[in-house]
Amino acid sequence: MSLFRRKPMHDLMHEADSDESLKRALGPGHLVMLGIGAVIGAGIFSLTGLAAATNAGPAVVVSFVLSGVACALAGLCYAEMASMIPVAGSAYTYSYATMGELLAWIIGWDLILEYAVAAVTVAIAWSGYMVSFLADFGIAMPATLTASPGTAITLADGSTVQALFNLPAVLISLAIAGLLILGIRESATANAIIVVIKVTVILVFVAVGASFVSGDNLTPFVPENSGTFGEYGWSGVLRAAGIVFFAYIGFDAVSTAAQEAKNPQRDMPIGILGSLVICTILYVAVSYVLVGMVDYRLLNVPDPIAVGIDATGIEWLQPLVKLGALMGLSSVILVSILGQSRIFYSMSRDGLLPPFMGSVHATRRTPHIALIVIGVFVAAAAAVVPLRVVGELVSIGTLFAFLLVSVGVWVLRRREPEIRRPFRTPWVPAIPILSAVACLVLMLGLPRDTWIRLAIWLLVGLTIYFGYGRRRSGLARKGAGERARVAVD
Ligand code: ALA
Repeated sequence: MSLFRRKPMHDLMHEADSDESLKRALGPGHLVMLGIGAVIGAGIFSLTGLAAATNAGPAVVVSFVLSGVACALAGLCYAEMASMIPVAGSAYTYSYATMGELLAWIIGWDLILEYAVAAVTVAIAWSGYMVSFLADFGIAMPATLTASPGTAITLADGSTVQALFNLPAVLISLAIAGLLILGIRESATANAIIVVIKVTVILVFVAVGASFVSGDNLTPFVPENSGTFGEYGWSGVLRAAGIVFFAYIGFDAVSTAAQEAKNPQRDMPIGILGSLVICTILYVAVSYVLVGMVDYRLLNVPDPIAVGIDATGIEWLQPLVKLGALMGLSSVILVSILGQSRIFYSMSRDGLLPPFMGSVHATRRTPHIALIVIGVFVAAAAAVVPLRVVGELVSIGTLFAFLLVSVGVWVLRRREPEIRRPFRTPWVPAIPILSAVACLVLMLGLPRDTWIRLAIWLLVGLTIYFGYGRRRSGLARKGAGERARVAVD
C-alpha cells in the first residue's frame, strides 16, 4: 500500500551525513541547555499550585516523580531514535522510517500541537507575567491590549473593560521568531543565557524557601480522597501527574536539532536525558519547598511561586522570581518555534509541505521562510486565543507523539535489527511498551473535549495530506529511484 511506504533507513542515514544546509554548531552543553530551555516554563511556574490545591495536596511532589518517570521512559526511546536517525524532524522523521508516510504525516501534523501551539500557550502566559512585572514598577499596559478579544478585565477603579487583543503575546512571538532567523548559534547562546538565569532563580527560591518548610504543611502528605476520583487521595496524585506532565514537555525538542549537532550520535542522548534528569530534580525540589512553605489549599492561583515568596516575607525575591518566570517562558517559546521550524523543514524536504518551507537562508543557514510563517501564525493565534483552549491541546498532542515514538523503537528493532544504534534503549520491548502504556494512561486522563479537538485537528491534517502531500511526496514522485527506494509492505 502506497500509504504505508516507508523512508528507507539508508536514505535517512545518507541525509544525516550529506545535508549540510543547516549548520552543525551545537555541542552537548548547548543541547542540554536547549532541553532545559524548552522544559522549564509555564508548567512549574503556574500549574504546580493548581495541581497541589485541587488534586494532590503536598503529594504533588509524588506526581512530579510519576510524570518524570513516564517522561524518562519516553526519553529513553527518543534517545535511541535520535542517535540512530540524527536528522532534523524528530518524531516525524522516526515515524517515516518505521510506520510509513501516512503515520509520519499524522505525527508531523500532530507535532504542530506540541511545538507551535505550545509556543502560543506560553506566549499568552508570558504576557500575563509581563503585565504583572511591569505593574510592580508602576508601568500600566492599556488593559484592552493584554488579553484575547472579549476577555473582561477589571480595572483598579472597579470598572471592567473588554480586551481587544493580546499585544505583549504578539510582540514576544515575533521577537523570538526574528532571533531564530538570525542564526542557530545566536539562538542557542541567547537560550543558554536565559537558562542560566531561570535556573539560578529557581535555585535561589529553593535555597531561601527550604528554611521555611514546616512539617504542619506537609501533613497529611496525601490528603484523604473527597469521594470523587481525582480529588485528593492516590487518584488525585495520578490526576495531578497528568496536569504537571505539561511541565516536562520539551525535552524531546532536543531531537529536532539533530542536524545542527556536531556529534549527534553521542550528544543526542546526553541532551535529551541530561535535560530531563536536571528538570526532574529541580521540579521535585521546587514543589517540595512550595507545599512545605504554604498550605496547599492556598495555591490555586496563576502564580503559586509568588504566594510562596509572600510566605517568606522577603520582598526583593518577588520581582526576581517574576523575572525568572519571564525568562523561563521566553526560552520555551524560543525552543518551541525552533523545533517547529525544523519539523516543517524536514516535511518540506520530503515533499509533504511546499518547498518554500524547506528553504534555508544563504548566509544565516536557518529555515527563514518557515520561521516567518510560524512566527506570524503563533503571534496571530496568541493575539486572539484564550489560554485554556490551547493549553489543553498541547499535552494530548505531545503524548500521542511519545506513544508513536515508543512503538517505533520496538518496530525498528525487529525490522532493522542490524542498524548501528549508538544509544540503545535498555530492556526492549519492556521499556517501549511501558512508555506507550504510560502515555496512553495519561491521555485517557485528559478531558473528552480535548480528545474531540485532537480528532478534528487530525482530520484537517488528513485532508491536507490527501489533497497535497500524498501525490507530491518525494517517495511518491521518485518511485523506485535511488533516493526513494520504496519499501512496500
Ligand atoms: N514544559 C513547558 C512549560 O512548562 C511547555 O512551559
